[in-house]
Amino acid sequence: MASGNSRAVTSNQSGPHEKLTELVERHLRSESKKPFNEHTVAAFEQAQQWLDNWQGPLILDSCCGVGQSTAEIARANPEARIIGVDKSALRTEKHQRGYATTTQNYLVLRADLNDFWRLAHQNGWRLHKHYLLYPNPWPKSAHIKRRWHGSAAFADLLKLGGQMTVRSNWKLYLEEFSKALQIAGYASELHECDDAKAAITPFEKKYRDSGQLTWELTASID
Ligand SMILES: C[S@@+](CC[C@H](N)C(=O)[O-])C[C@H]1O[C@@H](n2cnc3c(N)ncnc32)[C@H](O)[C@@H]1O
Repeated sequence: MASGNSRAVTSNQSGPHEKLTELVERHLRSESKKPFNEHTVAAFEQAQQWLDNWQGPLILDSCCGVGQSTAEIARANPEARIIGVDKSALRTEKHQRGYATTTQNYLVLRADLNDFWRLAHQNGWRLHKHYLLYPNPWPKSAHIKRRWHGSAAFADLLKLGGQMTVRSNWKLYLEEFSKALQIAGYASELHECDDAKAAITPFEKKYRDSGQLTWELTASID
């Protein structure tokens, strides 16, 4: 990935989307009944087998891309099992070519989180920590439902619980995420990322090399 030439997010929104409250309230009231996508069911079964009835701390690295962060989180949390999930096979397959480590406590999987989160909570998963690092911002106002906090999957994400960390180079994304959490009854904190610490994802590195600020939201979903 080319570093140092990433343009800052621009949007036709200047504040939180006017439909956000209505969307979040609707999604919190209803449960998705959509059929699961087959490849995600297979990936979820692979995760269950790998976990082998694991009762210790479980960490999810959602939208993990090439899984650099998954390996880093695994190194920093040796007592836990970590699963990185991304829908792009191109990215997850790249993990073995340049990002894999010898750490044994993590798995990188290709799956669609719209289904994976629902499968996970329906199967009783409760997370210790949940990372969502640089999700696609979908900055056009018309695309609010594609942002995680504007999607039906937001309710499933909340049911998984855990210490949540979300990072973005678009502060408004995190302000909206925070508002969505507040509607669901959870407090959160938003601050600038500490760029003295090494970047843990390729996108984080790219934004920093381009001189962009990055932001982090943290929340305890319990
Ligand atoms: C901007 S990239 C960030 C990747 C990585 N976290 C990083 O910082 O390098 C956003 C990622 O979200 C993934 N993604 C988007 N929608 C997804 C979905 N429904 N399920 C799983 N992954 C998804 C994309 O494939 C992409 O790799």
